[in-house]
Amino acid sequence: MTWVYIEDIAQHEGQEVTLKGWLYNKRSSGKLHFLQIRDGTGVLQCVVFKNDVSPEQFALADHITQESSLAVRGSVRADSRAPLGYELSVKDLQLIQLADPYPITPKEHGTAFLLDHRHLWLRSSRQHAILRVRSTIIRSCRDYFDGKGFTLIDAPIFTPAACEGTTTLFATDYFGEQAYLTQSGQLYAEAGAFGFGKVYCFGPTFRAEKSKTRRHLTEFWMIEPEVAFMDLAGDMDLAEDFVAYVVQRTLRERRRELEHLERDLAPLERVQKPFPRIAYTEAIELLRAKTFTIEWGADFGGDEETAISSAFDRPVLVHRYPVECKAFYMKADPQDPRLALCVDVLAPEGYGEIIGGGQREDDLATLERKIEAHRLPKDAFAWYLDLRCYGSVPHAGFGMGIERLVAWVCGLHHVRETIPFPRLLERLRP
Ligand code: 4AD
Ligand code: MG
Repeated sequence: MTWVYIEDIAQHEGQEVTLKGWLYNKRSSGKLHFLQIRDGTGVLQCVVFKNDVSPEQFALADHITQESSLAVRGSVRADSRAPLGYELSVKDLQLIQLADPYPITPKEHGTAFLLDHRHLWLRSSRQHAILRVRSTIIRSCRDYFDGKGFTLIDAPIFTPAACEGTTTLFATDYFGEQAYLTQSGQLYAEAGAFGFGKVYCFGPTFRAEKSKTRRHLTEFWMIEPEVAFMDLAGDMDLAEDFVAYVVQRTLRERRRELEHLERDLAPLERVQKPFPRIAYTEAIELLRAKTFTIEWGADFGGDEETAISSAFDRPVLVHRYPVECKAFYMKADPQDPRLALCVDVLAPEGYGEIIGGGQREDDLATLERKIEAHRLPKDAFAWYLDLRCYGSVPHAGFGMGIERLVAWVCGLHHVRETIPFPRLLERLRP
């Protein structure tokens, strides 16, 4: 018997097919049982009529529990009242496993409870919508760079040194040597760029973030392009084009999911080039005009980012932060060495930073001084410094956190639902 997925049901009208899935919901009325069956691609109403099946199967349809796994055979009927426009008239019903009482019920559950049951929570329609948006966002990111001739050069996860400051490192034993989980693949992407011209890496990155905010995970996925002979202006153009592409494509391909999440689509439709660009110093003025008390030189926290981004109707590029706010590898602005040639992209609607990047220091002596000033172990960076000895060129890149982008596109308050199994300060399970 032909096994079909619910998403393809329309192609089988009038035919007899088999579905394999789980019981999502059930309703009964004497001679009829209405089984809502989900198979991951959709939910279909399957009607079990007393006269169409054996007495044992009819009894099974009566006592089968939520999330039990089963296979049903039946004929596909068009029915305008059904949500999908089709129903299955069941002729055979096979139980695969009778589920224990399912902990997630239609009543409201608290977030902690749901996160404890994340392995089951993934089955809900809202989580399906979010994770399908995530899947499409990742595909769009890859397609964007693949389509522009970038080579995928992935970075290692075990690293000997910090990329983004020593305070958020996860240390681990590496056969007697101290290793760290990578905070960013950037340094390796730089080596890739000098070999391949334009590259990107994409993988999980780790930060021992001790704060509980709605924007921080301890494990998140980052996509990081790096381009040789590109300066800050080129980097900003790339970031802008990339974000507009990914958002517009996701909007086209996942409209149904975004509507299911009740996302207001108008702000996403506005995510078109050009994005506004402001210097850090202008951002300080903007904040002061909004009655923030902030010194020039201070970094922005979540509140400042929210305030800045809410002044614009599309993502805003904030460039040239003070060097003190940024990592050791940033190139100083030759026009004003107090500033780094860097850019953060802040998402609108209060979502804050989704991208951080900039032009890299390409001069050996300057970089050596910076590594010393940041008290980083020089030997671990010997290979990185080597890149400045063999044909160093201006180069730039950025990193975009996938979960921040998913949270914004889906309109979620917190990043915890944007990744299948979130890792947070107080969460290592499931
Ligand atoms: O601004 P960040 O720290 O930049 C870098 O790591 C650079 N080395 C990237 C590069 O230039 N290749 O992080 C980049 C992005 C942030 O804008 C944010 O989207 C995300 O990574 N991010 C996090 N997402 C979730 N949880 C966290 N704890 C994050 N930290 C950063
Ligand atoms: Mg940053």
